[in-house]
Amino acid sequence: MSLKVAIVGSGPAGVYTAEALMKQAPGAVEVDVLERLPTPYGLVRYGVAPDHTSIKSIAGYLRRVLELPGVRFLGGVELGRDVGVTDLLGCYDAVVYCTGAMVDRRMGIPGEDLPGSVAATDFVNWYCGHPDVPADRFTLESPEVAVVGVGNVAVDVVRVLAKDAQELRTTDVPEEVLARLAASQVKAIHMIGRRGPEHAKFTLKELRELGELANADVCVRPEESVADLTGASRQTRGNVEVLQSWAARTPAGRPRRLDVRFWMRPVEILGEDRVEALRLERTRLVEGRVEGTGEFETLPVGMVLRSVGYRSVPLPGVPFSEATSTVPNEAGRVRDREYVAGWLKRGPTGVIGTNKSDAAETVRTLLSDLAGREPVPHDDLDALLASRGVSPVTYDHWLSIEAAEAALARTLGRGERVKLLGLAAMLDACGR
Ligand SMILES: Cc1cc2nc3c(=O)[nH]c(=O)nc-3n(C[C@H](O)[C@H](O)[C@H](O)COP(=O)(O)OP(=O)(O)OC[C@H]3O[C@@H](n4cnc5c(N)ncnc54)[C@H](O)[C@@H]3O)c2cc1C
Ligand SMILES: NC(=O)c1ccc[n+]([C@@H]2O[C@H](COP(=O)([O-])OP(=O)(O)OC[C@H]3O[C@@H](n4cnc5c(N)ncnc54)[C@H](OP(=O)(O)O)[C@@H]3O)[C@@H](O)[C@H]2O)c1
Repeated sequence: MSLKVAIVGSGPAGVYTAEALMKQAPGAVEVDVLERLPTPYGLVRYGVAPDHTSIKSIAGYLRRVLELPGVRFLGGVELGRDVGVTDLLGCYDAVVYCTGAMVDRRMGIPGEDLPGSVAATDFVNWYCGHPDVPADRFTLESPEVAVVGVGNVAVDVVRVLAKDAQELRTTDVPEEVLARLAASQVKAIHMIGRRGPEHAKFTLKELRELGELANADVCVRPEESVADLTGASRQTRGNVEVLQSWAARTPAGRPRRLDVRFWMRPVEILGEDRVEALRLERTRLVEGRVEGTGEFETLPVGMVLRSVGYRSVPLPGVPFSEATSTVPNEAGRVRDREYVAGWLKRGPTGVIGTNKSDAAETVRTLLSDLAGREPVPHDDLDALLASRGVSPVTYDHWLSIEAAEAALARTLGRGERVKLLGLAAMLDACGR
């Protein structure tokens, strides 16, 4: 008899877990992938920047996993809302939690709750057309914007703000969002790093793209581009080299300007009813710790986007460490018959591929734990969901949503697909 496994979350971690189960126990496992949204692929669909089409094409690989015999996609099913942990343990031999890191981290400075102070998670969800964020969430009416953080998400956000909307026309950005990007009043973008260029988290390939923007001059202050490269990796040396080459550039008079700043930390967001400015303090490292120097600078920005990392949220009934915002585990094992993979397991770092080896480790643990166990009698998830009035979005429904997005792109004369906005539009497109 087959082992029945539920995977909660259909991002890279969830889908790679399904693939690892199929590969490590061929013919001996049946997998249901439960997903709160009607659409699979997690951050590949609602995180990876729309203009990074080659990375987005990883969805083509993930699709083949969901199409394997023995794998089922059940969209519109949320753990904690539609089903609980006890329900799943009654229906399956094992459950693997792969719900990622859905919310933002905060800076913990005064003014952070003023209108106009926003999380990159929200902004990314907006331009990616995530159903949790409506199209009218953002109006880019301020000429100056600060993006706090120098990681790859900050680079994505800055690039989307800096590009001319025309450059995004062939991407899958929802039409309503594209119209708002086209009406953007943004002229200057300040990207703020609280340490030096040698400490920035962005990767070289992503950084270089900023220097190739057709619509924006990129500026670095020579004095802020100085770096201590003792023991630095090739990646760090490459970053610093690129930043120093920008410090030597003369602006070409492009419509927008990107100022990449280092050794500046945000200390307060100023404004009466909404963001009017961001106060920064120059920093230095003292015994490896960032310290303020007492030298301040105020940027006249109308929007502050904090891109300072993501955070997982606890799942009801599942152990959670508030200290690390992850589910405590040993090589993926949480408790008897419960497992974890992806960002929920190790925190919000690493590229898509990192989740593949991570998922494979969890699956090895799971299969070794369950080897030789007597199968337990299963309750039927489909019947349970039906009794609660929950009717899952099937993989075929998802294909209908995809087809509707391709048809919309053709109608609008845009690229391969244009995302439908909102749950209602997606459910409508698949006849639900
Ligand atoms: C903005 C952004 C851009 C990125 N761009 C790149 C890139 O260009 N290249 C790259 O290699 N990496 C990129 N990454 C990193 C990459 O996206 C992550 O490594 C990867 O998505 C993590 O996979 P995951 O499955 O753990 O989480 P996720 O991808 O977040 O998937 C989690 C899934 O679980 C679902 N879910 C959540 N809660 C529940 C629940 N209660 N019940 C059911 N389902 C639930 C969610 O809807 C989601 O579909 C990016 C990350 C971010 C944040
Ligand atoms: N194209 C891609 O491959 C791609 C695209 C997007 C995301 N990703 C991956 O997804 C993961 C998450 O990316 P991320 O950018 O969200 O996180 P990240 O790489 O951890 O970067 C977070 C940034 O925020 C800064 N920061 C944190 N707290 C701060 C505070 N209170 N004040 C000021 N700055 C603060 C950090 O600075 P300190 O270093 O000083 O803490 C760092 O510069 C990463 O692994 C990333 O590589 C990859």
